[in-house]
Amino acid sequence: MPDGFNCGIFAEMTTPKRYLITSALPYANGPKHIGHLAGAYLPADIYTRYLRAQQRDVVFVCGSDEHGAAITIQAMKENTTPKDIVDKYHALLESNMHDLGISFDIYHRTSSPIHHETAQEFFTKLNNHGDLEIKESEQYFDESANTFLADRYIIGTCPICSNDNAYGDQCEKCGTSLSPEQLINPRSTLSGNAPSKKKTTHWYLPLDKHEDFLRQWILEGHKDDWKTNVLGQCKSWIEAGLQPRAVTRDLDWGVKVPVAEGEGKVLYVWFDAPIGYISATKQWAINNNKDWKPYWEDKDTKLVHFIGKDNIVFHCIIFPVMLKLHGNILPENVPSNEFMNLEGDKMSTSRGWSIEMDEYITDFVKKENGGDMMVDALRYYLTAIAPETKDSEFTWKGFQDALNSELVAVFGNFVNRAFVLMHKLCNGKVPSLHATIIDDADRKLVADIQEAKIAIEKNIENYKYRDALFEVIDLARKGNKYMQDKEPWIVAKQTGENGLPTVEAQQKIDNCLHYCLQLTANMAVLINPFLPFTAKKMCYMMKVVDKMLNWENAGKVNLLSVGYSLRAPELLFRKLEDIEIGEQIEKLKNKSKKLMETTLNTQPENTPEKVEEKKATIQFDDFAKIDLKTGTIIAAEKVEKADKLLKLEVDLGSEQRTIVSGIAMHFQPENIIGQKVVVVTNLAPRKMRGIESNGMILMAEDKEGKLVFVSSDVNNGSNVS
Ligand code: 2FM
Ligand code: ZN
Repeated sequence: MPDGFNCGIFAEMTTPKRYLITSALPYANGPKHIGHLAGAYLPADIYTRYLRAQQRDVVFVCGSDEHGAAITIQAMKENTTPKDIVDKYHALLESNMHDLGISFDIYHRTSSPIHHETAQEFFTKLNNHGDLEIKESEQYFDESANTFLADRYIIGTCPICSNDNAYGDQCEKCGTSLSPEQLINPRSTLSGNAPSKKKTTHWYLPLDKHEDFLRQWILEGHKDDWKTNVLGQCKSWIEAGLQPRAVTRDLDWGVKVPVAEGEGKVLYVWFDAPIGYISATKQWAINNNKDWKPYWEDKDTKLVHFIGKDNIVFHCIIFPVMLKLHGNILPENVPSNEFMNLEGDKMSTSRGWSIEMDEYITDFVKKENGGDMMVDALRYYLTAIAPETKDSEFTWKGFQDALNSELVAVFGNFVNRAFVLMHKLCNGKVPSLHATIIDDADRKLVADIQEAKIAIEKNIENYKYRDALFEVIDLARKGNKYMQDKEPWIVAKQTGENGLPTVEAQQKIDNCLHYCLQLTANMAVLINPFLPFTAKKMCYMMKVVDKMLNWENAGKVNLLSVGYSLRAPELLFRKLEDIEIGEQIEKLKNKSKKLMETTLNTQPENTPEKVEEKKATIQFDDFAKIDLKTGTIIAAEKVEKADKLLKLEVDLGSEQRTIVSGIAMHFQPENIIGQKVVVVTNLAPRKMRGIESNGMILMAEDKEGKLVFVSSDVNNGSNVS
C-alpha cells in the first residue's frame, strides 16, 4: 500500500475484499442520451477505473434491460417484433458505451437464457419460502385489444402534477412512481379507450412486512453515508406506508413465471431487471473462469449501484428486500444523480430535445478532428457539471468554455509547455534534480501534488466526482503558475561565452522542468479515471507503460527517471469553434421541431407519441361539461426557452384570460393579434414554463396539415354549442 493511502481520513474504514459496481440497465428500446451517460454510467466508470488503478478486485457490470412494456410498445411503434427491437438497440447501446470509454467488464442482456434461469430461480426460492403473496384483484383491461393494462399500457392524469400523459407505473414529468389505480381518467395506450376492470391473479412482494428492516437499514444504518436526495426519497416512501407490490404481469414478453398457475404471465420487468446484475456477474465469471458467488454472497464485497433518480425506489427499497429474502448481500451505497437538462429544457429523446450518445459519437468522435480526445472532452464536461446534488444543465456554450478554457488552456497547455521546453532546453531528456538549489516554490509544488492526491481520493471515495475533477485541474493550474513564476525561457537567456546557459542557469532550468515533468506524470495518474484516453496518450508521450497509471504512483515525484528521453508532445485537446456549437444548437432546434410536427402540435409538452388517433366515444353529459366561448387574442408573445409555446391574452368579453398555447411553430405572435378564437374556458388551470394557463384555444388542421383557427365572427364571450 503506498504511503499516505488509507491513512488519515480513511483510517476507520476497512478496505473491502472485492467490489461489485453496477450501472442501471438501460431499456433497449431506443438510443440513450448524454444525460443518461452523466447519470449512471460515467460516474460508475470513474469509480471503477479508480478502483482498478488501486489494484482492487472489482467487477463492473451492466447490460440491456430487454423486457417490459417499454420494449413491446416500441416494437408496435416500429411495426416489428420485441426481439428485433432488443437486438437492434442492444447492439447500439453496447457500441455507444464502448466508444465513450465506459469500461464494463461485461455488458450483458436480460433476454439471455442465463438471465431467465437466474430470475426464475430467484422467484422460485422466494415463492417456496412463502415470501410472496398470491392475490386476486381487479385490474384495468382493454376489451378491444383483449389485454390487461399495466405499466406503460395505461396512461392518464398524474394525481401529483396533473400531467395528462402519466404512465401506469410512473409519471415521467414529476418522477412519481404510480400504480394504474392512481391515474385520473385512465385510458389504454393501445386503443385510447377507457379501460374496463377484470379479475386476475398475481404474486406480490409484501413490502409492508419489511418496513422495520428498511427503516433500520436505510434510515439508521446509512443516514450518514447515503446522499441526501436518496435518503429523502427513501424516507418519504417508508413514511407513506409500504404496500405489497405485484411482481408478475399478464404479458407474454418477459421471463415466464416458473409455476403452473403462472401460465400466460411473466415476471414484472422491475423484478427481473435488477436480477440482471447477478446474471451478468455469472456470465462474466463464466467468461473469465471465476467464481461469481462471493460477489453476491460474501459480506466482504462492497456492492454499489449507480443509478438515475427515477430508479431510487427500485434499488433502495424493492431490490434490497428481494436480496435480503434471497440471502444476498445488500448494496453499501446507491449513488443516484439528479437530472441533466439541456439548453433550458428537460432532456428527452421522445421530444427530440436531446443529444443522443450516438449522435455525439457521429458528430465529434468519428470526425477527422475528433477521436478519443473528443470522448474525453465530453467526459470532462459531463463530470464537471454532474447533477450530483441537484439538476444541472448542459449548454453547448458551457461545453465550449470548459473545453477551451480549462482542458486546452490549463491542462493541455501545461503539458505541452513542459514538453516543448524540455525538448528545447534539456535535449529532450528528463533533466537532473540539483538538490542544493531546491527552493520553497519547488517544495510547495511537491506538497500541492501530494495534497491533490489525498483530496481526489477522498472525493472519489465519497462519490463526489465534480470536486475530484476540479482538484486535478486546479493542480494543473498550479503547475502553470509554477512554470510562469520560474520562467525557464528567460533564465535560458543567462548565457556564457559559448552562447549556452550558464551552469547556474541550466541547473535552475533543470529543476523547474524536472518538477514540471514529474507533475505531468502525476497528472496522468490523477486524470486517468476521468479521461482515460488522455492519460494513455500522456503515457505514450512519456514513453512509460500503462502500469505507471497505478494509483500508488500518485504523489510520487520520481516517476520519470533522470536522463530518460521523452517523445515530442502530442495534441491532447482541440478547441471547439463557435461554428461547431452554432451548428449543434441549430440541429437541436430542428430535430425537436421536426418531431413536434409529426406529433399533434397542440398537445402539451412531454406527450408521448400517440399510438391511436381515434378517441373513445363520450356521452352527451361529458360533452355538456365543456364550456366553450369565443374570444379575441389581444396580446401574444413567445415563452422564453420554449420554442413551441406562445403566451396569449384573450378577451372573453366579461374577462381576460392568460392562455399558453403550443402554436409558436405556426404563427408569429404579432400576426395573430385580433384573431377570433374558440376557447375551452373551464379547463383546470395548469402551469407551463412557470406561467399559469387558464383555458385552451381550439385549432383545426387544414388539408395540408397546417394549423388554422376555429373562429367565428360573433361577440366575445358568446357560448359555442
Ligand atoms: O429506468 C430504466 O431505464 C430501467 N431499465 C433501469 C433498470 S435498472 C436495473 F434494475 F436493472
Ligand atoms: Zn406527475
